[in-house]
Amino acid sequence: MAVALVEVTTTTRSLLMRDMDNRINRLLTQEAEEFAGFEERGKDPETGRSFASADRLLTVFLQQQNPDADEELIGLVRGADGDLAQIRQQGGIGAGLPLYRDADAKRRIFDSPDSTGTLHRPQGEIRWAKVTVARAGAEPDAAFVVAIHPERERERVDTVFRSLLVISGVALLLTTGIAWVVAGRILRPVRVVRTAAAEITEQDLTRRIPVHGTDDIAALAETFNGMLDRLDRAFAAQREFVDDAGHELRTPITIVRGHLEVMGDDPAEREETVRLVTDELDRMSRIVEDLLVLAKTERPDFVVPEPAQVAELTADVFVKARTLGERDWRLAEVADVEAELDFQRITQAMVQLAQNAVQHTTPGETIRIGSRTAGPHLELYVADSGPGVQPQDAEIIFERFRRGTSRRGARGSGAGLGLAIVKAIAEGHHGRVRLSDTPGGGATFTLVLPAPQVPEGHHT
Ligand SMILES: Nc1ncnc2c1ncn2[C@@H]1O[C@H](COP(=O)(O)OP(=O)(O)OP(=O)(O)O)[C@@H](O)[C@H]1O
Ligand SMILES: [Mg+2]
Repeated sequence: MAVALVEVTTTTRSLLMRDMDNRINRLLTQEAEEFAGFEERGKDPETGRSFASADRLLTVFLQQQNPDADEELIGLVRGADGDLAQIRQQGGIGAGLPLYRDADAKRRIFDSPDSTGTLHRPQGEIRWAKVTVARAGAEPDAAFVVAIHPERERERVDTVFRSLLVISGVALLLTTGIAWVVAGRILRPVRVVRTAAAEITEQDLTRRIPVHGTDDIAALAETFNGMLDRLDRAFAAQREFVDDAGHELRTPITIVRGHLEVMGDDPAEREETVRLVTDELDRMSRIVEDLLVLAKTERPDFVVPEPAQVAELTADVFVKARTLGERDWRLAEVADVEAELDFQRITQAMVQLAQNAVQHTTPGETIRIGSRTAGPHLELYVADSGPGVQPQDAEIIFERFRRGTSRRGARGSGAGLGLAIVKAIAEGHHGRVRLSDTPGGGATFTLVLPAPQVPEGHHT
């Protein structure tokens, strides 16, 4: 705005100056033409004929004139001695030395070959026009001179220019003030959001930014609130996880301590205590291991898929599962394909499922393990013939530390991490875990993996 105002002001000044120049030029021509016309057609009022002398012509003409301010009309007549005599008329001369008192300037104008010009004097500039009074054949010995002193006019333009500058300055200050206030108003909601955001991170995550209206700021606040929601949930989940983990780990510690405190000297009792304590410690280390696995699930290298023989994997799982308990283990079917998957992790998941199956069956009951391809999916399953999963438990058992409602043998079973790990492994393969009923009773857990099949011939 400052640049624009300076531009406007200086342009105005130069326009005014040009205007003034034009006006002076017009005035000079007009006066000169008027005199020329008078010289040609004018009659001496006393004789009724043409003027007898230049002196008389100039005198009569000048008597009729009424010059403006800063304007001088002078008739110059050269005498026999070469001196210049003058007849004059002038308006109020505001600035500088009047021409009629400046003999040197008069001479320069009189002798100038031009009919118009500008005289730069230390006592002020003069714009002039001249009409020589020519007597036929004779050397011009008289002239009519119009002189204008532009100084005062120029000062007026400068005054206008200065007031424009002042007005511009005031306008600039005003607009700056207004812009300041308006910008402050526009930015106030942003400031509110910012302060609220700052307070929230410093305090707790339950606070939210107030949302007013439907503008961009409101949208920003809403987005921010949404982000806070997610953060809040994530932190809550983390806190819950730590709480649960702590709780699960404290229980075995309490039990071990209890056993050790009441242990007597009886060798049989000692043996029993050692067995119980070892059991608890085993359980504890299992929980710690599972927790470590769960903690890793967010890492990108949690699952590293590589081409693997599904048949080999299924057989491997079957062999491992058989060591888990006296059950009627059956290798139901085997998919003889190669697929991109993490051999170790899938085995781990299947063993967890087999472990659960053992926990929910009695010796001699049937547990079937198998793998098959179904469309683009690869399915690996463990089907037991136990009591199955209660419908109300179907969702929650996949969450960590969650166990079903109909649990066999309160102690000895795990912390509820197994299925959470299985789910994490399936999702790491972009797959899922499907829970269905085994025909004839029992639960079937299936890993459904969109394992891309490696083309035949890739075998080594
Ligand atoms: N084969 C199954 N038949 C019936 N219920 C099952 C079966 N597998 C799991 N469940 C139910 O799901 C719950 C969660 O299983 P999960 O494997 O996550 O935990 P867990 O076996 O209790 O403990 P962990 O596996 O950590 O040792 C179990 O407590 C049980 O109620
Ligand atoms: Mg389990």
